[in-house]
Amino acid sequence: MNLILMGLPGAGKGTQAAKINEKYNIPHISTGDMFRLAIKEGTELGKKAKEFMDQGDLVPDEVTVGIVKERLAMDDCANGFLLDGFPRTTRQAEELQNLLSDLGKSIDYVIHVDVPEEKLVERLTGRRICPTCGTAYHVVYNPPKEEGICDKDGSQLIQRDDDQPETVKNRLAVNIEQTQPLLDFYQDKGYLVKVNGDRDINVVFQDIESILEKK
Ligand code: AP5
Ligand code: ZN
Repeated sequence: MNLILMGLPGAGKGTQAAKINEKYNIPHISTGDMFRLAIKEGTELGKKAKEFMDQGDLVPDEVTVGIVKERLAMDDCANGFLLDGFPRTTRQAEELQNLLSDLGKSIDYVIHVDVPEEKLVERLTGRRICPTCGTAYHVVYNPPKEEGICDKDGSQLIQRDDDQPETVKNRLAVNIEQTQPLLDFYQDKGYLVKVNGDRDINVVFQDIESILEKK
């Protein structure tokens, strides 16, 4: 299955992607995670991405499209992929259409995880992530069993650099502006399915499961 998860920052794309990956074993491709890894490793890509991410701005399309192109060409994507956080501009969406048509593939669903804007600041500023396995927790909505410690590997949880309140504001503004044209793009193609993301994590996932099981 070829899937795209869309939603504003904090909507729960990463959280749902991890659950989809666990149940259906579809490779989870998050451009944000790829950039964060590159930053951690100090690569050229990481240096380029960091200046934009620290401000809450989008990384330029040519850079982002390039890394997705390379990733989708890998063997594990032969039977499906789950894109999280890409595409984020209509140019990225158009480039993805071209790329998939060259590969003889198409998209099955674009799942839009919809959460009212006013809920997102709290979700982002309360997020804590595991630097070892990447799991996202929330201090109120999805706390670990022991405060500040990852359930899976015991690592000390940290806050993402771009989850500081000032950066969050710009991230939301930038993404809100880009979202509607993208939703229209996929609505016109008939791929778009909306899921109400303003409910318990497991209830949101049940809706996604029922969409995927129609396939
Ligand atoms: P990226 O890493 O993709 O960040 P984002 O889109 O801002 O999304 P987030 O990861 O913040 O949120 P999410 O929807 O995954 O939410 P999560 O599940 O963690 O991108 C980061 C940056 O990289 C961008 O700003 C940009 O600079 C660059 N970039 C990436 N892709 C790019 C592209 N295509 N083009 C250009 N630049 C790009 O959940 C959030 C919190 O809420 C967590 O604490 C979680 O526990 C909690 N939560 C989740 N679900 C629920 C629920 N149902 N109820 C209550 N709490 C919940
Ligand atoms: Zn962990």
